[in-house]
Amino acid sequence: LANSQVIVVSNREPYIHERDESGEITVRRPASGLVTALEPITRACGGVWIAHGSGSADRDVVDSRDRVAVPPEDPSYKLRRVWLTEAEEEGYYYRFANEGLWPLCHIAFVRPKFRREDWEYYKAVNARFADAVVAEAAGPSPIVLVQDYHFALLPRLIRQRLPEATIVTFWHIPWPNSEVFSICPWREEILDGLLGSSILGFHTRFYCNNFIDTVDRFMESHIDRELSTVSTGREATLVDDYPISIEWPPEALAGASSVEVARQTVRERLGIGADVKLGVGVERFDYTKGIPDRLRAVGILFERHPEWIGRFTFVQVAAPTRNKLEAYQGIRSESEQAAEEINSRFARNGWRPIELLIRHHEPAEVMELFRAADLCVVTSLHDGMNLVAKEFVAARDDERGVLVLSTFAGASRELLEALLVNPYDNDGMAEAIDRALKMSEAEQRGRMRMMRELVRDNNVYRWAGSMLLEAARMRRRRAIRK
Ligand code: G6P
Repeated sequence: LANSQVIVVSNREPYIHERDESGEITVRRPASGLVTALEPITRACGGVWIAHGSGSADRDVVDSRDRVAVPPEDPSYKLRRVWLTEAEEEGYYYRFANEGLWPLCHIAFVRPKFRREDWEYYKAVNARFADAVVAEAAGPSPIVLVQDYHFALLPRLIRQRLPEATIVTFWHIPWPNSEVFSICPWREEILDGLLGSSILGFHTRFYCNNFIDTVDRFMESHIDRELSTVSTGREATLVDDYPISIEWPPEALAGASSVEVARQTVRERLGIGADVKLGVGVERFDYTKGIPDRLRAVGILFERHPEWIGRFTFVQVAAPTRNKLEAYQGIRSESEQAAEEINSRFARNGWRPIELLIRHHEPAEVMELFRAADLCVVTSLHDGMNLVAKEFVAARDDERGVLVLSTFAGASRELLEALLVNPYDNDGMAEAIDRALKMSEAEQRGRMRMMRELVRDNNVYRWAGSMLLEAARMRRRRAIRK
């Protein structure tokens, strides 16, 4: 692939430039599993990353083609921003993608909303990104890496205009069964859009099978289950599982202080006693993450195992996200209420059972929390992969700490040495936390070592590498056939 151009397309941009009150430009890195995974890859490949411009539309930052070189400290690729109008952002991003496709694909019991006007915006924005890809393409056959549920129509739109392109699409969220997916009034258009891809990747085999079954049920198609390919026309799409991962070792580990120092600093900062055990949860404030249930489980822990009162604190980092949507406002107040109830019931002598930190945390702060913690709780109700679980494991080079993980996160298919829990079973989660708190150092080490080996071997370079290798193979086959 040495001479091939790589173009990445995602909704969320890897760097957000903002102007603060004093007029200075500051750069923020958003909380997004997709960005966490793609950023090191794009740095390694160079090329262009096309994304929705979400910070201040500042002409001092971008050039005349809306491009800025990033990472700011050591630029290695171009970020091209596509500016959306408020109405486009509302219809395409907030509504169709996040009120329709997001709840549709996560089994989250939030009713998906599909409105004709949002669909029109979704189509229009996909077409605008197709224009940007065509404008950035240096030749007829770039490799285009299309990311996530915001761009289901983009692969087909690119294929129509750049028939020779190699289009590798990755769906970062779950794919539900065909019955659930059929709720979407534009299911055929979405399936056809995705089948413009050369390769379509999901995190697990289960999601691939769901996708293939959905195509089988709603499209005239040829499916080869052995090769895992689907075609509706001349070209086949390879549908395969590529479990996403993180950079190894993670960038933030390089500057991190020792585990002992992290333990002390975090406890001092949060006013937690030196001998108090610490549990952490780190996520966007999203209803798929199961935050209120997890907090209730902490409450049940103190009820059932009162010996932990005064001896265990749970810190939940919740980064505000998609605030405009009702379902997201609801989850925030429900979590705040749960935290308050538990705190007022159990707090004593300056000790509080729960600290709810509602703000965005930069990667270095998250790393410090992970290193300070005795356990990390990831109890998503449903999650494509969940990279927090892998980040926690990567942070613990001391081989200590316990991961409590939902069986409904894709990560549970790989991190088998976590304490696996059903996030709907609050009693079960409380018992798992108790078990984690009591686990011997030897057992912690044994489990952590296995999980670290797995994340090290199946890191994000391997994730991207296997897709790109497959893409290279396809390009060679095509060249031979010509
Ligand atoms: C999930 C999605 C990503 C998204 C991220 C953050 O990981 O799969 O596409 O970027 O959430 O959400 P946001 O809406 O803020 O980009």
